[in-house]
Amino acid sequence: MKAIVQDTYGPTDALELRDIDPPRIAEDDAKAANDVIVRVHASGVERGVWHVMTGLPYPVRLAGYGLRAPKTPTPGRELAGVVEAVGSAVTRFKVGDEVFGLGQGAFAELARANENLLAPKPPSLTFVQAAAVGISAMTALQALRDHGRVAAGQHVLVIGAAGGVGTFAVQLAKAFGAEVTGVCSGTKVDLVRELGADHVVDYSREDVTAGDQRYDLVLDTGGNTPLSRLRRVLTPKGTLVIVGGETGGRWLGGSDRQVRALIVSPFVSQKLGSFICRENHEDLLVLSELVEAGKVTPLIDRTFALSETAKAIDYLTEGHARGKVVVTV
Ligand SMILES: NC(=O)c1ccc[n+]([C@@H]2O[C@H](COP(=O)([O-])OP(=O)(O)OC[C@H]3O[C@@H](n4cnc5c(N)ncnc54)[C@H](OP(=O)(O)O)[C@@H]3O)[C@@H](O)[C@H]2O)c1
Repeated sequence: MKAIVQDTYGPTDALELRDIDPPRIAEDDAKAANDVIVRVHASGVERGVWHVMTGLPYPVRLAGYGLRAPKTPTPGRELAGVVEAVGSAVTRFKVGDEVFGLGQGAFAELARANENLLAPKPPSLTFVQAAAVGISAMTALQALRDHGRVAAGQHVLVIGAAGGVGTFAVQLAKAFGAEVTGVCSGTKVDLVRELGADHVVDYSREDVTAGDQRYDLVLDTGGNTPLSRLRRVLTPKGTLVIVGGETGGRWLGGSDRQVRALIVSPFVSQKLGSFICRENHEDLLVLSELVEAGKVTPLIDRTFALSETAKAIDYLTEGHARGKVVVTV
């Protein structure tokens, strides 16, 4: 089968389209009993792909992705497609089911996934739209619901509102009944308003942390706003959830803010924190329901062919993306 493969860590030059053996579920492999092979129709591009491709920041390598070279040479996590084969213990799916969620080696014709990280594809979504949901929407959901404890009527600020996580966060915060302010660059202001944001701030013209407005919840998914500035716009009992940011160095990757937030939080009235997305089946179902209820629609910027996966990743990391970028297979 055709797949994107990388033998070394590096920029997108490290990626090659190759013919490789397809993933298989061996009958005597107990570890694969809950695995599913998915014929991939589309695969979402998200920042995590870049981190695993480059092995940066370095703690990524210590987290089990391989010290000198990627342990799994086939990148790609978010996917949507059709079940091709199932392991002996799989109960959720059968061959032919349309699914979406998270797999391994999703930039390929066939990918392996654990059944607990898949869900039935929402009928109203195309494969391209469904592939865009995976990590980005799950992260936005958990940031707002579990870590932000968002409630109706609250003022929520989403920094990075036009990005993969941000476009879901704006829609989800509205679905939870919040009054939402989105922060993005100038060319993306209309898009964030169309997503349902009540107010939009173009950060190239206005520093949202310098204004008089205070927010019950701040979700930071973009840039590297200092912790003190983020705290300034929080209400005295407000919550800050740092989802990410890409302006840090090779060692910290911006995570120093997260660490400081966790250290400072117990000593102040505001709740400051960060988290790593807990990948799970139940949240895929929650997102599917929200999609079917018309409360959330994946915003697709562009699609790229499998052979153009490197271009798709560059497009995202260069900051062009408005919503999600998806590779079609
Ligand atoms: N905690 C977790 O488990 C988890 C899960 C997924 C992702 N993440 C992290 O979350 C971050 C966002 O991911 P993503 O997939 O949404 O990335 P993305 O699609 O690239 O979105 C990031 C957004 O931030 C905006 N941005 C850049 N500088 C900004 C600034 N100074 N102020 C406001 N916005 C700014 C960018 O566009 P404009 O500047 O043009 O507006 C872009 O829309 C990444 O760091 C990723 O690694 C964490």
